[in-house]
Amino acid sequence: MDILFGKTPAMLAARNKIERVAETDVPVLIQGESGTGKELCAQLLHTLSLRARGSLVKVSCPAIPHSLLETELFGYEKGAFTGAATTKLGRVEQAHNGTLFLDEVGSLDLNVQSKLLQVLQDGTFVRVGGHESRSIATRLVSAANSDLRTQVEAGTFRLDFLFRINAVTINLPSLRQRIADLPILVDYFIEHYSRVFRHTPELLSKSAMRLMQNYHWPGNIRQLENLIRSYVLIGSEDALVAELIPDQQRSGVTAEIDLSEPVSLKNITRQATHDLERQIILKVLQANSWNRQKTAKWLQISYRSLLYKLSEAGMPEVPPRPLRTASPKRAEHASNGVQPPSPVRTRLY
Ligand SMILES: Nc1ncnc2c1ncn2[C@@H]1O[C@H](COP(=O)(O)OP(=O)(O)OP(=O)(O)O)[C@@H](O)[C@H]1O
Ligand SMILES: [Mg+2]
Repeated sequence: MDILFGKTPAMLAARNKIERVAETDVPVLIQGESGTGKELCAQLLHTLSLRARGSLVKVSCPAIPHSLLETELFGYEKGAFTGAATTKLGRVEQAHNGTLFLDEVGSLDLNVQSKLLQVLQDGTFVRVGGHESRSIATRLVSAANSDLRTQVEAGTFRLDFLFRINAVTINLPSLRQRIADLPILVDYFIEHYSRVFRHTPELLSKSAMRLMQNYHWPGNIRQLENLIRSYVLIGSEDALVAELIPDQQRSGVTAEIDLSEPVSLKNITRQATHDLERQIILKVLQANSWNRQKTAKWLQISYRSLLYKLSEAGMPEVPPRPLRTASPKRAEHASNGVQPPSPVRTRLY
């Protein structure tokens, strides 16, 4: 999967940092909400690193039971415990000359954190049940979607470990914060899944695009990708609209309010009413196959008033013309020639 950095400043800053630090061995912490691309960035860091020929070893920290985490990470010696019939290498050792990727690092317990701290400090560790100190050379990349500082305050995360793992921090913005990149992402996923499913869907209507631009995307790019994948598969906007509207209706009126300065109740409620109106009109239009006469009747408003509301909300007065979702202009978005080697086919846009 390619990474689309788009054009929002936060993503450009992330890309810049990745390119700057990729070839160094400094530990990198990638922070961002779920679905913002932390794993993709970890892969890219590995691909662009001097250790790209080595393995990228991923540890999904919450997926491994606490009781097994230590042996999973550091391995064990034969006879270390009942059932340890042979010596087993841990993930840390497997990442020798490569990259160790600790996903959701916030869920590591304090004991494991201190053992990893040792690895970061002098590159040594001891297998469970062993006595010999072993040396490894690996680059650590961690990812977190929770605030590790809060965990430090709560006593569940070691401050010294936090200092070690985040020599460089890359903050990935939520999709809400990079909504200007939505069209590029949509184009990319449509093109990608059209190729995968060998089927090109109808072009997305302007109103569907607008709906997506006003949505709050709690699942970020993963949610967008899933939505576009099913759109390409099913070929109808209905499912897409259905996923976006009910959610928005629930949260639309309680839009987040910036309390750092006085707010105008009148403006906020007027905006909320408009948003709600727009969503309802869109839904009824869809239900009536974009027949405006029927829609006006259904909504118990005059035809003229419907047309007025449509233009006021920037929605099409005529049945939605397809929005030409031009295929991503690769030359335009392409990075300055960075072509990471396969097998991780990560490209920059
Ligand atoms: N910038 C991007 N460009 C293209 N696709 C992206 C981008 N960011 C994320 N994706 C897509 O979104 C999905 C989720 O990405 P990824 O697994 O890297 O997110 P994550 O931040 O690790 O999420 P989680 O915290 O839930 O593990 C992937 O399938 C990936 O293809
Ligand atoms: Mg992830």
